[in-house]
Amino acid sequence: MSEIAKLELEGTIYEFPIIEGTENEKAIDISKLRDTTGYVTLDTGYKNTGATKSAITFLDGEKGILHYRGYSIEQLAENATFIEVAYLLIYGSLPTQLQLDTFTNNITKHTLVHEDMKQFFEAYPAKAHPMGVLASMTCSLSTFYPESLDPNRSPEAKDLTMLRLLAKLPTLAAWSYKNAMRHPFMYPKNKYDYCSNFLHMMFAMPTEEYKVNPVVVKALNKLLILHADHEQNCSTSTVRIVGSSQANLYACISAGISALWGPLHGGANQAVIEMLEQIHNDGGDVDKWVLKAKDKEDSFRLMGFGHRVYKNFDPRATIIKKACDDVLEQLGINDPMLEIAKKLEKVALEDEYFKSRNLYPNVDFYSGIIYRALGIPTEMFTVMFAIGRLPGWIAQWKEMTENNEPIGRPRQIYTGATPREYVDIAKR
Ligand SMILES: CC(C)(COP(=O)(O)OP(=O)(O)OC[C@H]1O[C@@H](n2cnc3c(N)ncnc32)[C@H](O)[C@@H]1OP(=O)(O)O)[C@@H](O)C(=O)NCCC(=O)NCCS
Repeated sequence: MSEIAKLELEGTIYEFPIIEGTENEKAIDISKLRDTTGYVTLDTGYKNTGATKSAITFLDGEKGILHYRGYSIEQLAENATFIEVAYLLIYGSLPTQLQLDTFTNNITKHTLVHEDMKQFFEAYPAKAHPMGVLASMTCSLSTFYPESLDPNRSPEAKDLTMLRLLAKLPTLAAWSYKNAMRHPFMYPKNKYDYCSNFLHMMFAMPTEEYKVNPVVVKALNKLLILHADHEQNCSTSTVRIVGSSQANLYACISAGISALWGPLHGGANQAVIEMLEQIHNDGGDVDKWVLKAKDKEDSFRLMGFGHRVYKNFDPRATIIKKACDDVLEQLGINDPMLEIAKKLEKVALEDEYFKSRNLYPNVDFYSGIIYRALGIPTEMFTVMFAIGRLPGWIAQWKEMTENNEPIGRPRQIYTGATPREYVDIAKR
């Protein structure tokens, strides 16, 4: 294969190097395009643009492959803990027992948040969406740790910020729920593992003994692993682009949480359940809603279907579908939403509209049903996604800063008015 791409512009031929990733992904390196030709590329939604070189996650959308640092998502979801996966993503290799123990202890001892932060919670309205609360509280952490504002601090100091985020995000997430319920906050308990501690902070009450259900812990661990990274998606690209201005890591993660909130990204898991409830309340006529989704005059889309990069199947959805059946069976739950979801999936997978556009169920299609079974309220679904995605965001930020990537600053093609004279307000 030629290692040079040739581009002819206005009669001149320009050459650009071809680069290849370790999984044989090919790209034309156009970093000198504007300097040499005066042209820029136009690629709205970055559908064809590699924004960075990354060694964290490999994804082949056509083949339905997802690897974290070379390990398949199937193996990790089956065998690892979320904290092991977090270590893998951030530091590049699976931890030894000693490394894992140290990492776990370091996270555990930072799970408390400053007492003053409790007052912030009290100021939010009871109906505040927990994603709004989580994004602002995460950014607020930077005000308690002002040393994190220094982009040139030592690697140890940067590690401490990462640990604090991993430790405190579940506390802030659970407290945003407790606050919405106007229930007393439950402090983290260091005797618990990461997932059990989160469940304790969400569901325990000071008056009662809380028993962590191992089925729920196992399912949560799997869900968090499946969400832990997904290369250069909308929220991760946001984290990297905010980080490229050398804004502090709390601010970067807060920006990532905001980007995740949208219904076309992480917010889809909430939207899926709301859609299933809507179909259920409407009598459960799945065909009617499939027709609506296909109607170009109707803005309704089947939430949880389609993906920007997976054009065959979403490997996370395959794992989640199985986990969903297991969890419902083990917890003895019969959820009518699951029945509707299965019918919807069947109709959509056999329908030419969905087949021809490669629209398959994505990770959010089934995750909401598991979260419901675990007792997580609908508004918290995207928060759960954020907890899962945190190690990925951190790893991507770390890679970006260690590679000294330049500030992110796309170009544009201006389509506005050409120069004109200012007109005094009296004459307009
Ligand atoms: C994920 C998503 C944003 C990807 O968008 P995209 O790659 O830009 O794809 P497009 O929006 O261009 O869609 C391509 C075609 O499929 C259709 N389509 C995509 N998703 C659809 C859905 N969920 N329901 C019905 N039609 C859909 C589009 O209308 C378009 O049809 P057209 O070619 O006739 O115009 C999109 O599939 C979607 O909105 N899905 C629902 C939300 C969701 O589940 N998001 C979570 C992602 S993990």
